[in-house]
Amino acid sequence: AARADAARPASAPAALFRERVLTVHHWTDTLFSFTCTRDPGFRFQAGQFAMIGLMVEGKPLLRAYSMVSAPYEEHLEFLSIKVPDGPLTSRLQHIRPGDEVLVGRKATGTLILDNLLPGRTLWLLGTGTGLAPFMSLVKDPETYDRFERVVLTHTVREVAELAYRDYLTRDLPQHEFLGEMVRAKLIYYPSVTREAFHTQGRITDLIRSGKLFADLGLPPFGPEEDRVMICGSPALLADARELLEARSFVEGSGNAPGHYVIERAFVEK
Ligand code: A2P
Repeated sequence: AARADAARPASAPAALFRERVLTVHHWTDTLFSFTCTRDPGFRFQAGQFAMIGLMVEGKPLLRAYSMVSAPYEEHLEFLSIKVPDGPLTSRLQHIRPGDEVLVGRKATGTLILDNLLPGRTLWLLGTGTGLAPFMSLVKDPETYDRFERVVLTHTVREVAELAYRDYLTRDLPQHEFLGEMVRAKLIYYPSVTREAFHTQGRITDLIRSGKLFADLGLPPFGPEEDRVMICGSPALLADARELLEARSFVEGSGNAPGHYVIERAFVEK
């Protein structure tokens, strides 16, 4: 099988694992998540993404999706928007347990702990489906080994889009192995922009105004102690980058770890 793989182009089915859908959860009309089986040969680091998709008219149709699941979990989990005329998500939103999904063999991405310099507080700033890679990171004990404190912010338009809110506030703090670390180190900070909620506004505005820091009782972030990961729309990434660069943060990469890393959240046009 290894030889056959090597001889085929990367997009061919042999470059893909065929997995079975196990569960599907619809959060809203436009947001859903699902779990599927995981090939034991599929390896990844928390925060990475892979190409996933479906066979459509005899060919694989794939898009980049961050793993919501942690590297040690038995199954894979993904979070997706539903775009009515999106080539993949118009179909993927209808998957049911037992259906086949395709998972690319190679995971990649910049939102990994190794791309950051050591620091005290890790800030994970996600909007919309940009939460996905951070779900994996907050389930990874390595994240808590490296940082004294982890702040996960999730900003969405409507309250119902705060996916995994119950998991983050109720289940994860009670987790058999992670619970103690989570209770000691993880702060979950949701905000909503187009509906009434206890915390309203874009994360960039909450940073600029200082409300984020005042609410948490933490000093405004700086490159000495704080490390930041950002995942969301291109507009968010541009605004957040500007904000961080103005505070002398340097972007990290696989070649040289830095103070922050960014990645575009999944969208389908
Ligand atoms: P807003 O409602 O003010 O546009 P989307 O679904 O468009 O990706 O948005 C997800 C969340 O990200 C929304 O709460 C949205 O706020 C917010 N957002 C969109 N663009 C930016 C940006 N440039 N900076 C900060 N937050 C943004």
